[in-house]
Amino acid sequence: MKKAIGRFLAGRLQTKKYMNKKKIDSLENAEDMKKDLLILGIETSCDETAAAVVCGGRTVLSNVIYSQIDLHTLYGGVVPEIASRKHIEKIDQVIEQALKEADKKLEEIDAIAVTYGPGLVGALLVGVSAAKAISYAAKIPLVGVHHIEGHISANFIENPDLEPPFLCLVVSGGHSHLVFVKAYGEYEILGRTRDDAAGEAYDKVARAIGLGYPGGPKIDKIAKEGNPEAIHFPRAKVENSNFDFSFSGLKSSVLNYLNGMKMKEEPVHIPDVAASFQKAVVDVLVDHSMAALKEYHINKFAIAGGVASNSAIREAFVQACKKSEIEFYYPSPVYCTDNAAMIAVAGYYDFKKGMTSGLDLNAVANLKLGER
Ligand code: KG4
Ligand code: ZN
Repeated sequence: MKKAIGRFLAGRLQTKKYMNKKKIDSLENAEDMKKDLLILGIETSCDETAAAVVCGGRTVLSNVIYSQIDLHTLYGGVVPEIASRKHIEKIDQVIEQALKEADKKLEEIDAIAVTYGPGLVGALLVGVSAAKAISYAAKIPLVGVHHIEGHISANFIENPDLEPPFLCLVVSGGHSHLVFVKAYGEYEILGRTRDDAAGEAYDKVARAIGLGYPGGPKIDKIAKEGNPEAIHFPRAKVENSNFDFSFSGLKSSVLNYLNGMKMKEEPVHIPDVAASFQKAVVDVLVDHSMAALKEYHINKFAIAGGVASNSAIREAFVQACKKSEIEFYYPSPVYCTDNAAMIAVAGYYDFKKGMTSGLDLNAVANLKLGER
């Protein structure tokens, strides 16, 4: 890889001058914007080492994901130190493969978009360092991307007609946010979780009922054999907020139920627990999202993040949106969980606005949406 990058760079340095800031600012009207910009996306915020090449902000030419799930399954969850080490081992290979599958050379890339937060700081640093090294050596502009902005942007990939404004529910292992997407790159958070993220609740409940890590897809599958009305788990309301979420009470309620059954020496029907837990999550997500759509008079709704690949959640939103005449958008499962194509898409819209990052770009573990 090092040799290959060296070769790319030698050619590029001779043929292409570094785009200065002024030129980037005027890109909107420039000749350059007429061609379809090629963005190399890089994502390493958690346990996926990913790189992708996206053309014109919406066409994915390659989307390479090296998942570390098997490694972390041994420990029942993501081990940050192991994640960082694995990213270091894989990052060059994954980037090279993304370029190869897209049939593009580094010198053809217009900008490098990289996730710089939020996430595991050591893991983020690997992607940010790789992106900065290539940006510096090959003189390709760098664009730091917020991970949630990436998840939201995953919806643009397969829905060419989707344009802001719309409401997006981002539900992943680290986040549960209701975001009003006012324009490209312009967000207002209407609601967020006060404690656990939805995916975190799935993972914790799955562990408690012996399904292992990652819990979301396992609960999704086994819940299909269970009765969602079998056990009533609470639907939490958060004080002083119609749109905030709270999932830790639900998780505790499932644990209490399991302990109670154990004390009584009664058998637990795992599919019923999974289906009833899932129903409680779905009800709250649908309820809050529909209320926000109504209050803000928004008629387009999208979901994003790993949990958005859940079949019960998708089905519930299909029905609810149909009933309320809301246009509903959702990404394919591969674009719901962490990937670099979504980062390239978000980076494309930032880059088009002339927003680039300097080589002082750093990993920010708790980066807030809208902060730069
Ligand atoms: O977006 P993502 O890949 O990473 C973060 O940014 O956190 O989301 C991972 C989360 C995990 O908690 C996983 O259990 C959950 O998404 N997940 C699911 C499903 N597939 C993944 N949760 C519910 N149902 C699924 N089918
Ligand atoms: Zn994510």
